[in-house]
Amino acid sequence: MPLTRSTDGPIIAPSILAADFSRLGEEVRAVEAAGADWLHVDVMDGHFVPNITIGPMVVKALKPHVKIPIDVHLMIAPVDPYLEAYREASADILSVHPESGPHLHRTLGRIRELGAQAGVVLNPGTPPDLVEEVIELVDLVLIMSVNPGFGGQKFIASQLRKIERVRAMIDAAGTGALIEVDGGVVASNAGACVDAGADALVAGTAVFGGGPSTYAAAIRALKDA
Ligand code: DX5
Ligand code: ZN
Repeated sequence: MPLTRSTDGPIIAPSILAADFSRLGEEVRAVEAAGADWLHVDVMDGHFVPNITIGPMVVKALKPHVKIPIDVHLMIAPVDPYLEAYREASADILSVHPESGPHLHRTLGRIRELGAQAGVVLNPGTPPDLVEEVIELVDLVLIMSVNPGFGGQKFIASQLRKIERVRAMIDAAGTGALIEVDGGVVASNAGACVDAGADALVAGTAVFGGGPSTYAAAIRALKDA
């Protein structure tokens, strides 16, 4: 099933990194009910990035709680040995950093072979040009607007220019791949991301920060921004 744009503003993908981990099932049901389009899961290994988070067992445990696609952002190296486990855990999208393995082209092909949507992730310091080399294998380009590892960091505005460049690349290739922006996204910069060409916005703190009674308004504010 190809990734499709949302009809009421950008796709909003709440990052469960900012959720209450002691009540994850309730938390993901609550953001889905509040209008989330995808569920963003940040996987960190304490090696590729300086933090440790979520294994495939947690993804598997969450799956029965939501109908929306599970968008897994893999910040682990090596990444190849774990693709199958996350796919078996029912990840719908698997996104990888080019720095997390020696053969990006092969890794993306493998993700598609496993039946998932394939994403490539660009760190703030990673040049966008490499997307051109793998564009036929990519369903999603995830542009980091913070350095990966932690939630709640400040949006790096210089990445807006990268969103524009990747948008132009995808449009020229005509592949229909989507662009997702991740890190420090809040209502005051969401509009600039969409104007630059983003289709999807990850939001951790901006959605979960205010507690369950504010999830719907927070998602609405990002869509309307
Ligand atoms: C950072 C993660 C992000 C982060 C987003 O490594 O990839 O998904 O959790 O959180 P906020 O929206 O709080 O920056
Ligand atoms: Zn992420």
